[in-house]
Amino acid sequence: MAATNLIGLDIGSMSIRAVETARGKEGPVLANFGEVPLPEGAVQAGVIHDEKVVVAALRHLWSSAKLRGRDVVLGVTNPQTVVRELSLPNLPLRELRKSLPFQVREMLPLPVDKSLLDFFPLEASEDGKTLRGLLIAAPKEAVLTAVHAIEQAGLHVARVDLASFALLRAASYLDEKVEAIVDIGAHATSVVVHHDGSPLIVRTLPRGGAEITERIAARVGATVPEAESIKCRVGLLDDGGPDTAAVVREAIRPLISEIGSSFTYLTTGDRQARVARVALSGGGAQLPGLVDALRQQLDIDVVIADPMARVKERRQSKRPGYDRLRAAAAVSIGLTLGAA
Ligand SMILES: Nc1ncnc2c1ncn2[C@@H]1O[C@H](COP(=O)(O)OP(=O)(O)OP(=O)(O)O)[C@@H](O)[C@H]1O
Ligand SMILES: [Mg+2]
Repeated sequence: MAATNLIGLDIGSMSIRAVETARGKEGPVLANFGEVPLPEGAVQAGVIHDEKVVVAALRHLWSSAKLRGRDVVLGVTNPQTVVRELSLPNLPLRELRKSLPFQVREMLPLPVDKSLLDFFPLEASEDGKTLRGLLIAAPKEAVLTAVHAIEQAGLHVARVDLASFALLRAASYLDEKVEAIVDIGAHATSVVVHHDGSPLIVRTLPRGGAEITERIAARVGATVPEAESIKCRVGLLDDGGPDTAAVVREAIRPLISEIGSSFTYLTTGDRQARVARVALSGGGAQLPGLVDALRQQLDIDVVIADPMARVKERRQSKRPGYDRLRAAAAVSIGLTLGAA
């Protein structure tokens, strides 16, 4: 039997998405994509609250999408994850990773034994004595809970990776401009600022589309499903009536302001940079009128990211449309690209 490929697995708050890519002559080919919705509350911002529901959803996803491989790369989206730049003694990477708990103890928000630590090297200093890179500290318990659920579904976690790094691989456009990739989910928003593929800021904000829906519901006295429908249909567009657009605009303000603050942070400090373009992904990026509103408020070029540009397509009649893939698959595609 032919060897199967690793499958990129993105367990979001709204749905679980899986992507299989195959190695083609001209680069990766999208071999399979599957998605199953999750009921509200089963997963929230990267934390599994209802394992049974997630295990059943994973089993359903594998059978409905006819995924062959059982080895997955798990994407971690969790606002408690810390990614920060750091210089460490330039040891061989294995040794360096081993020494991390002692080196970084003081800088972590969580105790060392509650964190999964990793180091992503960027460049060595001129004298070769130190190595600049990114320290990654993810909350161990949330990751282990996800790994357990995946194993209960008869699958195996071959690797764990940050959803933010997956976004960088799948959605970055490399043209020398400082670009921010912003993935707006339901309860988490990933912000990755990079220069030519090299990450400058990696953050997960504890905000997303669910909060916008709740604010609309509270403001207009609607149920959550009604508010969700208003948000997705009218969004920030005036043709839904200026009052509705004003409510949505108000509801999205905290998220936009926090995205903006992440960019401002870059204009201070040692290596200053200014974001020149924002590439949006995730369900929240589909908010009608968002691209124009962000463009105006942040005074930056704003586009919708296209993870499909990184993979070739194989004709498949049952697959969802290009737009759906483009909106939903950035993280899961990027997870498979890292495994290539
Ligand atoms: N057309 C649309 N307009 C506005 N918002 C939308 C639209 N479609 C989906 N959304 C919003 O996108 C959010 C879900 O996005 P996504 O599917 O990327 O989240 P997730 O990855 O499952 O969750 P998370 O990353 O927060 O764990 C929801 O808040 C939903 O309301
Ligand atoms: Mg998400």
